[in-house]
This record gives sequence, structure tokens and C-alpha cells, in this order.
Amino acid sequence: MILTREEEDMLNGVYGDGLRRAMKIIVGLGKIENASRLIDVKSAHISGVSYSNIGDEGLEFLEELASLNVKVRVPTTLNPCGIDLAKWRLMGVDDEYYSKQVKVIKAYEALGVKATCTCTPYLHDNVPMRGDHIAWSESSAVIYANTFIKAYTNKESGISALASALTGKTAYYGLHDDEKRKPEIAVRARFKVRGALEFSVLGYFTGRVSEARIPLILGAHPRTIPEKKQFSAGLSASGSVGMALFKWGEELETIDFDRDMFKSIINDLSVEDDFNILFLGCPHLCLEEIEEIARVVKGRRIVRGREVWLCTSRSIYTQAFNKGLIKIVEEAGLKVFVDTCLIVSPLKPIQVIGTNAVKTAHYIRSMHKANVKIAEAIALLRGVLE
Ligand code: F3S
Repeated sequence: MILTREEEDMLNGVYGDGLRRAMKIIVGLGKIENASRLIDVKSAHISGVSYSNIGDEGLEFLEELASLNVKVRVPTTLNPCGIDLAKWRLMGVDDEYYSKQVKVIKAYEALGVKATCTCTPYLHDNVPMRGDHIAWSESSAVIYANTFIKAYTNKESGISALASALTGKTAYYGLHDDEKRKPEIAVRARFKVRGALEFSVLGYFTGRVSEARIPLILGAHPRTIPEKKQFSAGLSASGSVGMALFKWGEELETIDFDRDMFKSIINDLSVEDDFNILFLGCPHLCLEEIEEIARVVKGRRIVRGREVWLCTSRSIYTQAFNKGLIKIVEEAGLKVFVDTCLIVSPLKPIQVIGTNAVKTAHYIRSMHKANVKIAEAIALLRGVLE
């Protein structure tokens, strides 16, 4: 691999031990992938933030790195952590978990990372331009950025995204290369796919059948932000691919996605008829989703014994707050959390979750051993209102 003089110096510790370690990760990955060179990235987005996921080892690693006095070189944002940093008591989290989670956030901040704690950085906090090379982890955001913004990123791990943030570099391979962004399989929608849930399932089905091959989607195109978010999250939950395409000129092996397939995926994932907690905000809610929820719950209350969690980013929360939407939903008894989501929080395992996201359904069952009812968001919401 050919390195510039500056890259060599980083690798040799001329800029300190923190950068040396970060560059070693980038170069090591590049060698595994046979990359011939490194390229500059415009931004980074880091997953691996929840204390539930990284534990004491992850915290120690971050604190040690921060003690080396190294800072990120490009704008860098964070994925959700395990708690709402302000309303954590409302989530039933204990003091020890809170203090560990805060230490994780502080270590990232000491490295110069913006503690946005959202999985939708592309909506407000870290918006790439078409053609930008970036280094993002959080697979749903990677797919959104590659597919709908036409930015360039591989599916980074939390560690490699952090290494790219510190060095401002990534190895040139995979989805950074136009030649590697061509579809290898097609999925044809055989019915009119509409709304966030149907696109969520289309993404999930596509991930299953395409595995690591870039899929071309025929006969369906998400138009709204919720549809694009849900398609990306569904695809990220079941496949390992980092993007999809919606237009192409060549013939490809084509797999049908019909109504029966849609129903069978919903039936597989949705094992319960009822639920304790309705979780909306996977990926984090955008403003138009909060507006719609506020319209539905205005002047009403959720029934006793049910909880509704809405999760969003702090930026979108502020916009919703300024429009009076947070007041409306909180008066109806819904809880609004930022910084976190139900999947990465220390959820009590006995809950049954209502969700409109196949990504939540997929992970809640494997990570939390909880059961799921999956349906359209507004239908679920109407079901818990007095
Ligand atoms: Fe975001 Fe949590 Fe879903 S990180 S994509 S809301 S699982």
C-alpha cells in the first residue's frame, strides 16, 4: 500500500501514540482488503456507544485513547447510547449504569466527537453531500447515505470509524470505488409498496435474499424520509450489504417480492397480538413522523398499563419542541427520549414490544429475548389511546 509522507508519519508515531494506533487500524484493514492507498474522509459516525454493548472493556479502551491527547480531524457524530442522558431515571436505569454511560460519552467528547447520540445523523447533525467519502458505522445510516445521498462509505465498525475520525483517512476499497457499487441481484416488487412498514419489510426481504450482493430494486421507490429510513434499517437488519440501487440498465437475476412474502415476513416477526411498550423511532423519528403522531394523539391519553416510547435525536427534538409537538405528545402520556433507543438500552427482558420497524423486531428478539407485535405505527398508536 502506498502511503503519503504524512500517513507514514502518523503510522510511525510522529504525531503521538493515539494517532499511531488509529493509523495502524486503518492500514491493517486496508491491507486485508488489498487497498492500494488511503483517501481523505469528510466525516465519521461512530456506533458502539451504549454501555450495554461495549461494557467496561470498551470504556477502558476509550478512556485510555482519550488520555493520549488525540482529537478527531473531521466532524464526527455518535450513535445512540443506552439512556436518555437527561431523563434516564424515567427509563428505570440504575445509578451505576448511568455513571458508566456518562463516562463513555465523556471519553468520546474528550476525543472531540460530537455527542449527538442519534442513528439518523443524515437528517441534521452530520449531513454528507453527494459524492463525499465518509467513514460511518451504524449500518442503517450507511445504507441511507450510500443509497439516497450518494455518499461513499463502507460499513465501518465502531473502532474503524473512530480510527478514521482520528486520522481523517480510510482505505480505498469496497463501496468507495464506483466499480464496486454495481448491482449483482434484482428484487422486483410485485405490488405497490407504500408506507414505512411496507418499505421496512421490502428492505428486510431484500437483505435476506441478497446477503452481501448489492441489490437493485425494481417496481418500488421510497419517496418520503420515513420510507427511506425504514427501507435502510430493514435492509441493514437482515443483510450485510451497504447499499441498494433503484435504477440500472443491465439484466440481472431477479427475485419477486409479493404480498404473500410481505405477510409471511410480518407473521414470522410478529409473534404477539398485544404489547406493553410501543416503541416508535427506529431509526430515530424525523420531524414529519412526530408531526403525524402529535396529530393522532392531540387531546387524547394512552390507556393505563401501556407505555409509548418515542425516540429521536436532540436536534429533531428541539425542532419538535419549538413547534409545540413535544407538549402535545407528553400531555397524551407518551414518553419522548433522545440520545438512545430501546434496542441499545438496558431493557427489562420480560416486555412485549409493539413496533413498526422490522429492525427493532429482528434485534429485540435476538438481543433482549423479548417478543414483538409489528404493524403500521399509527395503527399501533390508535390501539393504545383511550
Ligand atoms: Fe437506531 Fe436503535 Fe434502530 S440505533 S436504527 S433506533 S436499533
